[in-house]
Amino acid sequence: MNPAAEFSSIGSLLPDSMRLFVRDEVDSTNDEIRRLAMASAADGTVVLADKQTAGRGRRGAAWVCPPGQALAFSVLVRPSEPKALWPRLALAAGLAVAEGLEAHGVACGIKWPNDVWVDGKKICGVLVEAGNDFAIIGIGVNVNVPTFPEELSGSATSLLLETGEPQDRAGVLASILRRLEIRRHQIDADYARMLDAVRSRCVLTGQRISLHAADGPRVGFCEGIGAGGELLLSGPNGLERLLQADEVRILTDHS
Ligand code: BTN
Repeated sequence: MNPAAEFSSIGSLLPDSMRLFVRDEVDSTNDEIRRLAMASAADGTVVLADKQTAGRGRRGAAWVCPPGQALAFSVLVRPSEPKALWPRLALAAGLAVAEGLEAHGVACGIKWPNDVWVDGKKICGVLVEAGNDFAIIGIGVNVNVPTFPEELSGSATSLLLETGEPQDRAGVLASILRRLEIRRHQIDADYARMLDAVRSRCVLTGQRISLHAADGPRVGFCEGIGAGGELLLSGPNGLERLLQADEVRILTDHS
């Protein structure tokens, strides 16, 4: 089925505030949304592409989604909340994906800040980028991906692999966007409530982890997530509160 037809019946399932545009191919849905934002597109504009020729992940890594099997989409938001709070959209997006996928039969964990995991493997990545007066929430979800290249097979999974059944991509998209519409508005007054939902899914809490903070690598014990959404890490420097970190890994007894 061509993508426009596949997603044509989704309208009534989307939040009223969102409008979906389906493209066969773009460079990156984040770039396409940025162009639309610069041309005054409205808050709630969503672009989904069946194929991205330059899809990207965090730290400039490539993000490759097989056409017809995954979801690659970006949402334009023009938050009314102060810009200092916009980084919280990343946690909101990861949580929304986790909740959306749970409606399709899998229990999801959140690997802070915003990877979604099922049984220790990544099923979704989120890339939030900010413009002057807008933010872009880019989301890639492995829906009906049957296999992964050898180098990813130990660390990536899909809804198909977890449930044993192909899933309706349009239904999965609608489930995620409905949760996102709620969670994206909880980055200010309702943040504590949102954080409780993140904490209950945090796969790092209670684990020995390694990560790269802005000023260098760390190894420590994850004590959970603080009131500002920061990772609480106890290590040789005492308790640290990290608002940002890369390459977060759970250490096993053997690592
Ligand atoms: C990551 O885990 O590194 C983030 C991956 C984000 C991928 C999505 S796919 C849709 C949107 N467009 C992009 O180019 N990237 C994001």
